[in-house]
Amino acid sequence: MSHTFSARGSSFLLDGEPFQIRSGAIHYFRVHPADWAHSLHNLKALGFNAVETYVPWNLHEPHEGTFRFDGLCDVEAFLDAAAREGLYAIVRPSPFICAEWEWGGLPAWLMYGHGRPRSRDPRFLGAVAAYYDELIPRLAPHQLDRGGNVLMFQVENEYGSYAQDKGYLRTISTLMSERGLTMPFFTSDGPWEACLSAGSLIDDGVLATGNFGSRPEENFAALRRFQEGHGRTQPLMCMEFWDGWFSRWGEAPTRRDGGELADCVGRALEIGSVNLYMFHGGTNFGFMNGCSARKQHDLHQITSYDYGAPLDERGNPTGRYDALRAMMAERFPDVPLGTPAYKPTLAPCVLVRDGVAGLLASLDALSERRESLDTQPMELLGQNTGYVLYRTTLPAYADEVRLRVIDASDRVQVFCDGELAAVQYQEEIGDDIFVSPRPDGSTLDVLVENMGRVNYGPKLCAPSQSKGIRQGVMADLHFLQGWEEYPLPLDDISALEFSAEGPHLAAPAFHRFHLAVDEPADTFVDMAGWHKGCVFVNGFNVGRFWEKGPLTTLYVPGGLLRPGVNELVVFETDGPGAGELVLADGPVEIETGA
Ligand code: GLA
Repeated sequence: MSHTFSARGSSFLLDGEPFQIRSGAIHYFRVHPADWAHSLHNLKALGFNAVETYVPWNLHEPHEGTFRFDGLCDVEAFLDAAAREGLYAIVRPSPFICAEWEWGGLPAWLMYGHGRPRSRDPRFLGAVAAYYDELIPRLAPHQLDRGGNVLMFQVENEYGSYAQDKGYLRTISTLMSERGLTMPFFTSDGPWEACLSAGSLIDDGVLATGNFGSRPEENFAALRRFQEGHGRTQPLMCMEFWDGWFSRWGEAPTRRDGGELADCVGRALEIGSVNLYMFHGGTNFGFMNGCSARKQHDLHQITSYDYGAPLDERGNPTGRYDALRAMMAERFPDVPLGTPAYKPTLAPCVLVRDGVAGLLASLDALSERRESLDTQPMELLGQNTGYVLYRTTLPAYADEVRLRVIDASDRVQVFCDGELAAVQYQEEIGDDIFVSPRPDGSTLDVLVENMGRVNYGPKLCAPSQSKGIRQGVMADLHFLQGWEEYPLPLDDISALEFSAEGPHLAAPAFHRFHLAVDEPADTFVDMAGWHKGCVFVNGFNVGRFWEKGPLTTLYVPGGLLRPGVNELVVFETDGPGAGELVLADGPVEIETGA
Protein backbone atom coordinates (compact mmCIF):
# COMPACT_ATOMS: atom_id res chain seq x y z
CA MET A 1 0.00 0.00 0.00
CA SER A 2 1.39 3.40 -0.82
CA HIS A 3 1.24 6.39 1.50
CA THR A 4 1.71 10.11 1.22
CA PHE A 5 4.14 12.34 3.04
CA SER A 6 4.67 16.05 2.56
CA ALA A 7 6.45 18.97 4.14
CA ARG A 8 4.00 21.75 3.40
CA GLY A 9 2.92 24.23 6.03
CA SER A 10 4.28 24.10 9.54
CA SER A 11 4.07 20.33 10.01
CA PHE A 12 4.91 17.17 8.16
CA LEU A 13 1.82 15.36 6.93
CA LEU A 14 1.77 11.56 6.75
CA ASP A 15 -1.34 10.33 4.94
CA GLY A 16 -2.76 13.78 5.60
CA GLU A 17 -2.17 13.70 9.37
CA PRO A 18 0.38 15.83 11.25
CA PHE A 19 3.50 13.76 11.87
CA GLN A 20 6.54 14.30 14.05
CA ILE A 21 9.77 12.69 12.86
CA ARG A 22 11.75 11.18 15.73
CA SER A 23 14.76 9.86 13.91
CA GLY A 24 18.21 8.54 14.72
CA ALA A 25 21.26 8.30 12.47
CA ILE A 26 22.76 4.89 11.79
CA HIS A 27 25.18 4.73 8.86
CA TYR A 28 24.82 1.27 7.31
CA PHE A 29 28.45 1.49 6.12
CA ARG A 30 29.74 1.92 9.68
CA VAL A 31 27.90 -1.08 11.14
CA HIS A 32 28.36 -4.72 10.12
CA PRO A 33 25.23 -5.86 8.20
CA ALA A 34 24.72 -8.67 10.74
CA ASP A 35 24.20 -5.93 13.36
CA TRP A 36 21.82 -3.63 11.47
CA ALA A 37 18.69 -5.27 12.91
CA HIS A 38 20.07 -4.98 16.47
CA SER A 39 20.66 -1.22 16.18
CA LEU A 40 17.40 -0.58 14.36
CA HIS A 41 15.53 -2.54 17.02
CA ASN A 42 17.07 -0.36 19.74
CA LEU A 43 16.06 2.76 17.83
CA LYS A 44 12.48 1.60 17.62
CA ALA A 45 12.56 0.59 21.31
CA LEU A 46 13.35 4.23 22.16
CA GLY A 47 10.01 5.27 20.73
CA PHE A 48 11.62 6.65 17.58
CA ASN A 49 9.98 6.19 14.20
CA ALA A 50 12.70 6.78 11.58
CA VAL A 51 16.34 6.06 10.79
CA GLU A 52 18.58 8.45 8.88
CA THR A 53 21.60 7.54 6.82
CA TYR A 54 24.08 9.15 4.50
CA VAL A 55 25.16 7.43 1.28
CA PRO A 56 28.97 7.65 0.76
CA TRP A 57 29.80 8.02 -2.91
CA ASN A 58 33.41 6.86 -2.45
CA LEU A 59 32.36 3.50 -1.03
CA HIS A 60 29.80 2.89 -3.77
CA GLU A 61 32.02 3.96 -6.67
CA PRO A 62 35.59 3.19 -5.54
CA HIS A 63 36.89 3.52 -9.09
CA GLU A 64 35.24 5.54 -11.80
CA GLY A 65 32.54 3.37 -13.38
CA THR A 66 32.97 0.51 -10.86
CA PHE A 67 30.07 0.25 -8.43
CA ARG A 68 29.52 -1.70 -5.20
CA PHE A 69 26.19 -2.33 -3.55
CA ASP A 70 26.93 -5.50 -1.61
CA GLY A 71 27.70 -6.20 2.05
CA LEU A 72 28.42 -2.96 3.91
CA CYS A 73 27.35 -1.10 0.76
CA ASP A 74 23.92 -2.71 0.51
CA VAL A 75 21.85 0.38 1.20
CA GLU A 76 18.72 -1.34 -0.11
CA ALA A 77 19.04 -4.23 2.36
CA PHE A 78 19.49 -1.64 5.13
CA LEU A 79 16.30 0.19 4.14
CA ASP A 80 14.47 -3.15 4.08
CA ALA A 81 15.83 -4.01 7.53
CA ALA A 82 14.54 -0.65 8.81
CA ALA A 83 11.14 -1.32 7.24
CA ARG A 84 11.01 -4.69 9.00
CA GLU A 85 11.50 -2.89 12.33
CA GLY A 86 8.65 -0.55 11.43
CA LEU A 87 10.92 2.44 10.84
CA TYR A 88 10.68 5.14 8.19
CA ALA A 89 13.92 6.32 6.61
CA ILE A 90 15.59 9.60 5.68
CA VAL A 91 18.29 9.19 3.04
CA ARG A 92 21.09 11.64 2.29
CA PRO A 93 22.53 10.69 -1.12
CA SER A 94 24.23 14.05 -1.64
CA PRO A 95 27.57 13.89 -3.49
CA PHE A 96 29.23 15.25 -0.35
CA ILE A 97 28.34 13.97 3.12
CA CYS A 98 31.03 15.40 5.47
CA ALA A 99 30.41 12.84 8.28
CA GLU A 100 34.06 12.55 9.38
CA TRP A 101 34.38 10.28 6.39
CA GLU A 102 37.37 10.15 4.01
CA TRP A 103 37.11 13.33 1.84
CA GLY A 104 33.50 13.75 2.96
CA GLY A 105 32.46 10.88 0.70
CA LEU A 106 34.00 12.28 -2.47
CA PRO A 107 35.82 9.53 -4.38
CA ALA A 108 39.58 10.11 -4.55
CA TRP A 109 39.56 9.58 -8.31
CA LEU A 110 37.85 12.97 -8.62
CA MET A 111 41.12 14.56 -7.52
CA TYR A 112 42.59 15.23 -10.96
CA GLY A 113 40.72 16.22 -14.11
CA HIS A 114 37.21 16.32 -12.67
CA GLY A 115 36.84 20.00 -11.87
CA ARG A 116 36.11 21.66 -8.58
CA PRO A 117 34.13 19.41 -6.24
CA ARG A 118 30.62 20.57 -5.33
CA SER A 119 30.48 22.99 -8.23
CA ARG A 120 28.71 23.35 -11.56
CA ASP A 121 31.87 22.32 -13.41
CA PRO A 122 30.49 19.92 -16.05
CA ARG A 123 33.23 17.39 -15.29
CA PHE A 124 32.12 17.19 -11.67
CA LEU A 125 28.41 17.14 -12.53
CA GLY A 126 29.01 14.49 -15.20
CA ALA A 127 30.58 12.26 -12.55
CA VAL A 128 27.64 12.89 -10.18
CA ALA A 129 25.18 12.06 -12.96
CA ALA A 130 26.92 8.77 -13.75
CA TYR A 131 26.89 7.83 -10.05
CA TYR A 132 23.23 8.78 -9.73
CA ASP A 133 22.42 6.65 -12.80
CA GLU A 134 23.44 3.68 -10.64
CA LEU A 135 22.34 4.81 -7.21
CA ILE A 136 19.03 6.59 -7.64
CA PRO A 137 17.14 3.77 -9.42
CA ARG A 138 18.06 1.58 -6.43
CA LEU A 139 16.66 4.11 -3.95
CA ALA A 140 13.53 5.06 -5.89
CA PRO A 141 11.55 1.83 -5.25
CA HIS A 142 12.08 2.34 -1.49
CA GLN A 143 10.15 5.61 -1.47
CA LEU A 144 7.01 5.81 0.64
CA ASP A 145 4.85 6.64 -2.36
CA ARG A 146 5.99 3.40 -3.99
CA GLY A 147 5.28 1.20 -0.99
CA GLY A 148 8.68 1.68 0.68
CA ASN A 149 9.71 3.52 3.84
CA VAL A 150 11.80 6.50 2.65
CA LEU A 151 10.27 9.83 3.61
CA MET A 152 12.72 12.30 2.11
CA PHE A 153 16.11 12.93 0.54
CA GLN A 154 18.89 15.43 1.10
CA VAL A 155 20.14 17.53 -1.83
CA GLU A 156 23.42 18.75 -0.31
CA ASN A 157 25.09 18.64 3.09
CA GLU A 158 25.81 21.94 4.82
CA TYR A 159 26.50 23.48 1.42
CA GLY A 160 26.18 26.86 3.15
CA SER A 161 29.43 26.02 4.95
CA TYR A 162 31.21 25.72 1.62
CA ALA A 163 29.69 27.78 -1.19
CA GLN A 164 26.49 29.53 -2.25
CA ASP A 165 25.76 28.59 -5.86
CA LYS A 166 22.01 27.97 -6.16
CA GLY A 167 22.53 26.80 -9.72
CA TYR A 168 24.64 23.93 -8.41
CA LEU A 169 22.08 23.01 -5.75
CA ARG A 170 19.27 23.10 -8.33
CA THR A 171 21.25 20.87 -10.66
CA ILE A 172 21.81 18.24 -7.96
CA SER A 173 18.13 18.35 -7.10
CA THR A 174 17.22 17.95 -10.79
CA LEU A 175 19.65 15.04 -11.23
CA MET A 176 17.87 13.33 -8.33
CA SER A 177 14.32 13.97 -9.49
CA GLU A 178 15.02 13.14 -13.14
CA ARG A 179 16.10 9.67 -12.00
CA GLY A 180 12.89 9.01 -10.13
CA LEU A 181 12.98 10.56 -6.66
CA THR A 182 9.53 11.93 -5.90
CA MET A 183 9.50 12.28 -2.10
CA PRO A 184 10.31 15.69 -0.56
CA PHE A 185 13.87 17.04 -0.76
CA PHE A 186 15.68 18.99 1.94
CA THR A 187 18.95 20.75 2.67
CA SER A 188 20.63 20.92 6.09
CA ASP A 189 22.79 23.74 7.39
CA GLY A 190 23.93 25.57 10.48
CA PRO A 191 20.81 27.39 11.72
CA TRP A 192 21.95 30.93 11.19
CA GLU A 193 21.24 33.38 8.41
CA ALA A 194 24.55 33.20 6.51
CA CYS A 195 24.62 29.41 6.36
CA LEU A 196 20.96 28.92 5.60
CA SER A 197 20.98 31.65 2.94
CA ALA A 198 24.00 30.14 1.20
CA GLY A 199 23.06 26.49 1.54
CA SER A 200 19.29 26.22 1.15
CA LEU A 201 16.84 26.23 -1.74
CA ILE A 202 14.01 27.61 0.31
CA ASP A 203 12.86 29.97 -2.44
CA ASP A 204 12.22 26.88 -4.58
CA GLY A 205 10.17 25.39 -1.74
CA VAL A 206 12.84 22.87 -0.71
CA LEU A 207 12.69 22.17 3.03
CA ALA A 208 15.46 23.95 4.95
CA THR A 209 16.53 22.06 8.09
CA GLY A 210 19.03 23.05 10.78
CA ASN A 211 21.91 21.21 12.45
CA PHE A 212 22.66 21.84 16.14
CA GLY A 213 23.08 20.01 19.43
CA SER A 214 21.96 22.47 22.11
CA ARG A 215 19.68 25.44 22.82
CA PRO A 216 16.79 23.99 20.77
CA GLU A 217 14.44 26.93 21.51
CA GLU A 218 16.92 29.48 20.15
CA ASN A 219 18.01 27.40 17.18
CA PHE A 220 14.51 26.49 16.08
CA ALA A 221 13.51 30.16 16.47
CA ALA A 222 16.38 31.15 14.15
CA LEU A 223 15.23 28.58 11.60
CA ARG A 224 11.67 29.92 11.83
CA ARG A 225 12.90 33.50 11.36
CA PHE A 226 14.81 32.44 8.25
CA GLN A 227 11.70 30.79 6.79
CA GLU A 228 9.56 33.82 7.54
CA GLY A 229 12.16 36.07 5.96
CA HIS A 230 11.56 34.10 2.76
CA GLY A 231 7.79 34.19 3.10
CA ARG A 232 7.60 30.46 3.85
CA THR A 233 6.30 28.27 6.60
CA GLN A 234 7.95 24.88 6.77
CA PRO A 235 8.06 22.13 9.40
CA LEU A 236 10.83 22.71 11.92
CA MET A 237 13.40 19.95 11.82
CA CYS A 238 16.80 19.54 13.39
CA MET A 239 18.44 17.23 10.85
CA GLU A 240 21.49 16.68 13.06
CA PHE A 241 20.94 16.95 16.75
CA TRP A 242 24.55 16.40 17.87
CA ASP A 243 24.22 14.17 20.92
CA GLY A 244 27.97 13.61 21.08
CA TRP A 245 30.98 14.38 18.95
CA PHE A 246 33.70 12.63 16.99
CA SER A 247 37.27 12.00 18.22
CA ARG A 248 40.71 12.70 16.81
CA TRP A 249 44.02 10.99 17.58
CA GLY A 250 45.45 12.03 20.90
CA GLU A 251 42.32 13.82 22.09
CA ALA A 252 40.02 12.69 24.88
CA PRO A 253 36.55 11.76 23.60
CA THR A 254 33.63 14.04 24.46
CA ARG A 255 30.68 12.42 26.16
CA ARG A 256 27.54 14.23 27.17
CA ASP A 257 25.83 13.65 30.45
CA GLY A 258 22.74 11.52 29.85
CA GLY A 259 20.40 13.67 31.93
CA GLU A 260 21.47 16.91 30.25
CA LEU A 261 21.22 15.32 26.80
CA ALA A 262 17.78 13.84 27.47
CA ASP A 263 16.47 17.19 28.71
CA CYS A 264 17.82 18.94 25.62
CA VAL A 265 16.38 16.35 23.21
CA GLY A 266 13.06 16.44 25.06
CA ARG A 267 12.88 20.22 24.66
CA ALA A 268 13.70 19.91 20.97
CA LEU A 269 10.97 17.30 20.49
CA GLU A 270 8.46 19.65 22.17
CA ILE A 271 9.10 22.06 19.29
CA GLY A 272 9.78 20.07 16.14
CA SER A 273 11.15 17.00 14.43
CA VAL A 274 14.57 15.67 15.37
CA ASN A 275 17.22 13.36 13.96
CA LEU A 276 19.76 12.29 16.58
CA TYR A 277 23.24 12.47 15.07
CA MET A 278 24.41 9.82 15.81
CA PHE A 279 22.06 7.26 17.31
CA HIS A 280 24.67 4.57 16.69
CA GLY A 281 28.00 5.91 15.39
CA GLY A 282 29.75 2.62 14.58
CA THR A 283 33.21 2.35 13.08
CA ASN A 284 35.35 3.89 10.33
CA PHE A 285 36.44 0.53 8.97
CA GLY A 286 39.43 0.34 6.66
CA PHE A 287 41.00 3.68 5.83
CA MET A 288 37.75 5.64 5.69
CA ASN A 289 38.20 8.11 8.56
CA GLY A 290 38.21 11.79 7.69
CA CYS A 291 40.37 14.65 8.89
CA SER A 292 39.71 18.04 10.48
CA ALA A 293 41.44 20.82 8.56
CA ARG A 294 43.56 23.33 10.41
CA LYS A 295 45.57 26.20 8.95
CA GLN A 296 48.76 24.33 9.80
CA HIS A 297 48.47 20.90 11.29
CA ASP A 298 45.45 18.87 10.16
CA LEU A 299 43.95 16.53 12.75
CA HIS A 300 42.98 13.07 11.60
CA GLN A 301 39.98 11.33 13.10
CA ILE A 302 40.15 7.97 14.82
CA THR A 303 38.77 4.61 13.75
CA SER A 304 36.01 4.45 16.31
CA TYR A 305 32.97 6.56 15.47
CA ASP A 306 31.47 5.81 18.89
CA TYR A 307 30.57 9.51 18.96
CA GLY A 308 29.36 9.27 22.57
CA ALA A 309 26.05 8.28 20.97
CA PRO A 310 23.13 6.62 22.79
CA LEU A 311 24.34 3.24 21.50
CA ASP A 312 28.03 2.47 21.96
CA GLU A 313 30.33 1.50 19.09
CA ARG A 314 29.12 -2.11 19.12
CA GLY A 315 25.44 -1.07 19.23
CA ASN A 316 24.60 -1.67 22.88
CA PRO A 317 22.58 0.90 24.88
CA THR A 318 24.57 3.29 27.11
CA GLY A 319 23.49 5.41 30.05
CA ARG A 320 22.57 8.11 27.53
CA TYR A 321 20.14 5.70 25.88
CA ASP A 322 18.59 4.89 29.26
CA ALA A 323 18.24 8.60 30.05
CA LEU A 324 16.60 9.29 26.69
CA ARG A 325 14.23 6.36 27.17
CA ALA A 326 13.24 7.60 30.64
CA MET A 327 12.67 11.08 29.18
CA MET A 328 10.46 9.63 26.41
CA ALA A 329 8.37 7.73 28.98
CA GLU A 330 7.93 10.87 31.06
CA ARG A 331 7.39 13.55 28.42
CA PHE A 332 5.71 11.52 25.70
CA PRO A 333 3.72 8.86 27.57
CA ASP A 334 1.63 8.04 24.48
CA VAL A 335 4.68 6.89 22.51
CA PRO A 336 5.13 3.12 22.83
CA LEU A 337 8.57 1.96 23.96
CA GLY A 338 10.14 -1.45 23.37
CA THR A 339 12.70 -3.51 25.25
CA PRO A 340 16.31 -2.69 24.33
CA ALA A 341 18.59 -5.51 23.17
CA TYR A 342 22.19 -6.20 24.19
CA LYS A 343 24.81 -8.22 22.32
CA PRO A 344 27.36 -10.44 24.09
CA THR A 345 31.15 -10.13 23.77
CA LEU A 346 33.79 -12.87 23.55
CA ALA A 347 35.68 -13.66 26.75
CA PRO A 348 39.06 -11.85 26.89
CA CYS A 349 42.08 -13.87 25.77
CA VAL A 350 45.67 -13.52 24.56
CA LEU A 351 46.83 -14.71 21.13
CA VAL A 352 50.43 -15.54 20.30
CA ARG A 353 52.01 -14.52 16.99
CA ASP A 354 52.60 -17.43 14.65
CA GLY A 355 53.88 -15.77 11.52
CA VAL A 356 55.47 -12.61 10.16
CA ALA A 357 55.77 -11.13 6.69
CA GLY A 358 57.98 -8.10 6.17
CA LEU A 359 56.49 -5.36 4.01
CA LEU A 360 59.56 -4.74 1.90
CA ALA A 361 59.79 -8.44 1.09
CA SER A 362 56.07 -8.70 0.31
CA LEU A 363 55.64 -5.88 -2.19
CA ASP A 364 55.02 -8.15 -5.16
CA ALA A 365 52.38 -10.10 -3.20
CA LEU A 366 50.54 -6.92 -2.29
CA SER A 367 50.93 -4.58 -5.19
CA GLU A 368 51.30 -4.07 -8.88
CA ARG A 369 54.52 -2.25 -9.44
CA ARG A 370 54.48 0.93 -11.50
CA GLU A 371 57.41 2.80 -12.93
CA SER A 372 57.82 6.49 -13.64
CA LEU A 373 60.52 9.06 -14.08
CA ASP A 374 59.13 11.29 -11.33
CA THR A 375 57.15 10.19 -8.28
CA GLN A 376 53.41 10.08 -8.91
CA PRO A 377 50.80 11.03 -6.30
CA MET A 378 48.50 8.29 -5.02
CA GLU A 379 45.48 9.22 -7.14
CA LEU A 380 47.48 9.17 -10.37
CA LEU A 381 48.53 5.64 -9.46
CA GLY A 382 44.82 4.72 -9.52
CA GLN A 383 44.74 4.37 -5.74
CA ASN A 384 42.39 5.96 -3.20
CA THR A 385 43.56 5.10 0.29
CA GLY A 386 46.29 3.26 2.18
CA TYR A 387 50.03 3.57 1.61
CA VAL A 388 52.39 3.98 -1.34
CA LEU A 389 55.94 2.64 -1.28
CA TYR A 390 58.27 4.63 -3.55
CA ARG A 391 61.59 2.98 -4.41
CA THR A 392 64.67 4.17 -6.21
CA THR A 393 68.44 3.67 -6.20
CA LEU A 394 70.44 6.28 -4.39
CA PRO A 395 73.93 6.83 -5.80
CA ALA A 396 76.81 7.17 -3.34
CA TYR A 397 77.51 10.85 -3.97
CA ALA A 398 79.23 11.21 -0.62
CA ASP A 399 79.60 9.43 2.69
CA GLU A 400 76.52 11.27 3.82
CA VAL A 401 73.75 12.43 1.49
CA ARG A 402 71.07 14.95 2.35
CA LEU A 403 67.56 13.93 1.30
CA ARG A 404 64.34 15.91 1.34
CA VAL A 405 60.83 14.64 0.55
CA ILE A 406 59.08 17.52 -1.15
CA ASP A 407 55.34 17.97 -0.72
CA ALA A 408 53.95 14.68 0.53
CA SER A 409 50.98 13.64 2.70
CA ASP A 410 50.52 12.60 5.41
CA ARG A 411 53.38 10.66 6.90
CA VAL A 412 56.64 9.45 5.39
CA GLN A 413 59.04 6.77 6.54
CA VAL A 414 62.37 6.70 4.76
CA PHE A 415 64.46 3.53 4.61
CA CYS A 416 67.96 3.18 3.23
CA ASP A 417 68.71 -0.47 2.42
CA GLY A 418 65.82 -1.44 4.68
CA GLU A 419 67.10 0.57 7.67
CA LEU A 420 64.84 3.31 8.99
CA ALA A 421 66.32 6.76 8.37
CA ALA A 422 63.43 9.07 9.27
CA VAL A 423 59.74 9.37 10.12
CA GLN A 424 58.11 12.70 9.29
CA TYR A 425 54.60 14.13 9.59
CA GLN A 426 52.95 17.06 7.83
CA GLU A 427 55.08 20.19 8.44
CA GLU A 428 58.20 18.11 9.20
CA ILE A 429 58.00 16.70 5.69
CA GLY A 430 60.70 18.49 3.69
CA ASP A 431 63.15 18.62 6.60
CA ASP A 432 66.65 17.27 5.96
CA ILE A 433 67.24 13.54 6.25
CA PHE A 434 70.83 12.29 6.19
CA VAL A 435 71.69 8.81 4.95
CA SER A 436 74.95 7.02 4.17
CA PRO A 437 74.63 5.09 0.91
CA ARG A 438 76.79 2.08 0.14
CA PRO A 439 79.67 2.73 -2.29
CA ASP A 440 77.78 0.94 -5.08
CA GLY A 441 74.52 2.75 -4.33
CA SER A 442 71.67 1.98 -1.95
CA THR A 443 67.98 1.14 -2.22
CA LEU A 444 65.92 4.05 -1.02
CA ASP A 445 62.34 3.27 0.08
CA VAL A 446 59.84 5.96 1.02
CA LEU A 447 56.63 4.66 2.58
CA VAL A 448 53.89 7.29 2.54
CA GLU A 449 50.69 6.88 4.50
CA ASN A 450 47.45 8.58 3.56
CA MET A 451 45.99 9.14 7.03
CA GLY A 452 42.57 10.26 5.75
CA ARG A 453 41.41 13.22 3.70
CA VAL A 454 39.81 16.39 5.04
CA ASN A 455 36.02 16.11 5.21
CA TYR A 456 34.97 19.69 5.93
CA GLY A 457 35.95 23.28 5.19
CA PRO A 458 38.03 25.12 2.62
CA LYS A 459 40.77 22.49 2.33
CA LEU A 460 38.19 20.20 0.72
CA CYS A 461 39.02 21.60 -2.70
CA ALA A 462 40.98 19.29 -4.99
CA PRO A 463 43.92 18.88 -5.36
CA SER A 464 44.93 19.90 -1.83
CA GLN A 465 43.80 16.48 -0.63
CA SER A 466 46.04 14.59 -3.03
CA LYS A 467 48.16 12.04 -1.16
CA GLY A 468 51.47 10.28 -1.60
CA ILE A 469 54.39 12.32 -2.93
CA ARG A 470 53.20 15.27 -5.02
CA GLN A 471 56.57 16.74 -6.02
CA GLY A 472 59.44 14.35 -5.44
CA VAL A 473 62.45 13.43 -3.36
CA MET A 474 65.61 15.50 -3.53
CA ALA A 475 69.13 14.27 -2.98
CA ASP A 476 71.45 17.22 -2.42
CA LEU A 477 69.85 19.83 -4.74
CA HIS A 478 68.19 17.70 -7.41
CA PHE A 479 65.08 15.57 -7.69
CA LEU A 480 65.85 11.87 -7.83
CA GLN A 481 64.40 10.32 -10.96
CA GLY A 482 63.57 6.80 -12.05
CA TRP A 483 61.11 5.40 -9.52
CA GLU A 484 59.24 2.21 -8.82
CA GLU A 485 55.92 2.74 -7.11
CA TYR A 486 54.01 0.12 -5.17
CA PRO A 487 50.41 1.18 -4.45
CA LEU A 488 49.36 -0.45 -1.16
CA PRO A 489 45.61 -0.05 -0.70
CA LEU A 490 45.83 -3.29 1.33
CA ASP A 491 42.38 -4.33 0.16
CA ASP A 492 43.63 -7.85 -0.50
CA ILE A 493 46.35 -9.31 1.70
CA SER A 494 45.59 -12.95 0.85
CA ALA A 495 48.83 -13.46 -1.09
CA LEU A 496 51.09 -12.62 1.89
CA GLU A 497 53.51 -15.39 2.74
CA PHE A 498 54.16 -15.67 6.46
CA SER A 499 57.13 -17.33 8.00
CA ALA A 500 58.61 -17.76 11.45
CA GLU A 501 60.03 -14.52 12.81
CA GLY A 502 62.71 -13.09 10.55
CA PRO A 503 65.61 -10.76 11.25
CA HIS A 504 63.84 -7.63 9.94
CA LEU A 505 61.01 -7.42 12.43
CA ALA A 506 61.75 -3.77 13.15
CA ALA A 507 60.81 -2.75 9.61
CA PRO A 508 57.11 -2.51 8.64
CA ALA A 509 55.64 -6.00 8.84
CA PHE A 510 52.47 -8.07 8.98
CA HIS A 511 52.05 -10.14 12.13
CA ARG A 512 49.72 -13.13 12.02
CA PHE A 513 47.60 -14.58 14.82
CA HIS A 514 44.92 -17.25 14.93
CA LEU A 515 41.78 -17.19 17.01
CA ALA A 516 39.56 -20.24 17.56
CA VAL A 517 35.92 -19.39 18.23
CA ASP A 518 32.93 -21.63 18.99
CA GLU A 519 30.26 -19.00 18.70
CA PRO A 520 31.24 -15.74 17.01
CA ALA A 521 30.56 -12.59 19.01
CA ASP A 522 31.96 -9.08 19.19
CA THR A 523 35.46 -8.54 20.50
CA PHE A 524 38.04 -5.73 20.79
CA VAL A 525 41.69 -6.11 19.83
CA ASP A 526 43.82 -4.20 22.29
CA MET A 527 46.80 -2.63 20.52
CA ALA A 528 48.56 -1.47 23.71
CA GLY A 529 52.26 -2.18 23.12
CA TRP A 530 51.91 -1.70 19.37
CA HIS A 531 52.62 1.61 17.62
CA LYS A 532 50.87 2.40 14.35
CA GLY A 533 49.14 0.49 11.60
CA CYS A 534 45.94 -1.40 10.98
CA VAL A 535 44.36 -4.76 11.71
CA PHE A 536 42.77 -7.32 9.39
CA VAL A 537 40.22 -9.88 10.57
CA ASN A 538 39.77 -12.70 8.08
CA GLY A 539 41.13 -10.30 5.46
CA PHE A 540 38.79 -7.41 6.37
CA ASN A 541 40.53 -4.20 7.44
CA VAL A 542 38.87 -3.20 10.73
CA GLY A 543 40.79 0.09 10.81
CA ARG A 544 43.84 1.97 11.97
CA PHE A 545 45.44 1.95 15.41
CA TRP A 546 47.92 4.48 16.76
CA GLU A 547 49.55 4.58 20.16
CA LYS A 548 48.39 8.21 20.61
CA GLY A 549 44.92 6.96 21.59
CA PRO A 550 42.43 7.90 22.94
CA LEU A 551 41.51 4.23 22.46
CA THR A 552 44.01 1.40 22.36
CA THR A 553 41.30 -0.97 21.16
CA LEU A 554 39.77 -1.62 17.78
CA TYR A 555 36.24 -2.98 17.65
CA VAL A 556 35.76 -6.29 15.81
CA PRO A 557 32.13 -7.06 14.99
CA GLY A 558 31.15 -10.67 15.61
CA GLY A 559 29.89 -10.79 12.02
CA LEU A 560 33.51 -10.82 10.82
CA LEU A 561 34.30 -14.00 12.75
CA ARG A 562 33.26 -17.53 11.88
CA PRO A 563 32.98 -20.65 14.00
CA GLY A 564 36.37 -22.38 13.96
CA VAL A 565 39.70 -20.75 13.25
CA ASN A 566 39.99 -17.08 12.31
CA GLU A 567 43.01 -15.19 11.05
CA LEU A 568 43.99 -11.84 12.55
CA VAL A 569 46.79 -9.88 10.91
CA VAL A 570 48.36 -6.74 12.36
CA PHE A 571 50.16 -4.41 9.97
CA GLU A 572 52.69 -2.56 12.15
CA THR A 573 54.74 0.18 10.48
CA ASP A 574 56.84 1.18 13.44
CA GLY A 575 58.61 -1.59 15.22
CA PRO A 576 58.83 -5.25 16.12
CA GLY A 577 55.26 -5.44 17.43
CA ALA A 578 54.16 -6.87 20.72
CA GLY A 579 54.38 -10.56 19.84
CA GLU A 580 51.02 -11.04 21.52
CA LEU A 581 47.58 -9.78 20.73
CA VAL A 582 45.15 -9.19 23.56
CA LEU A 583 41.42 -9.49 22.94
CA ALA A 584 39.43 -7.40 25.40
CA ASP A 585 35.72 -7.43 26.14
CA GLY A 586 35.23 -3.68 25.82
CA PRO A 587 36.93 -0.50 24.61
CA VAL A 588 40.07 0.57 26.47
CA GLU A 589 40.74 4.29 26.77
CA ILE A 590 44.06 5.87 27.74
CA GLU A 591 44.90 9.29 29.16
CA THR A 592 45.70 11.63 26.33
CA GLY A 593 46.33 14.85 28.16
CA ALA A 594 43.99 16.64 25.73
C1 GLA B 1 28.07 18.42 10.38
C2 GLA B 1 27.98 17.46 9.22
C3 GLA B 1 27.99 16.02 9.66
C4 GLA B 1 29.05 15.79 10.69
C5 GLA B 1 28.81 16.71 11.86
C6 GLA B 1 29.82 16.57 12.98
O1 GLA B 1 26.87 18.68 10.88
O2 GLA B 1 26.84 17.70 8.44
O3 GLA B 1 28.21 15.22 8.53
O4 GLA B 1 30.28 16.06 10.13
O5 GLA B 1 28.91 18.03 11.44
O6 GLA B 1 29.87 15.30 13.45
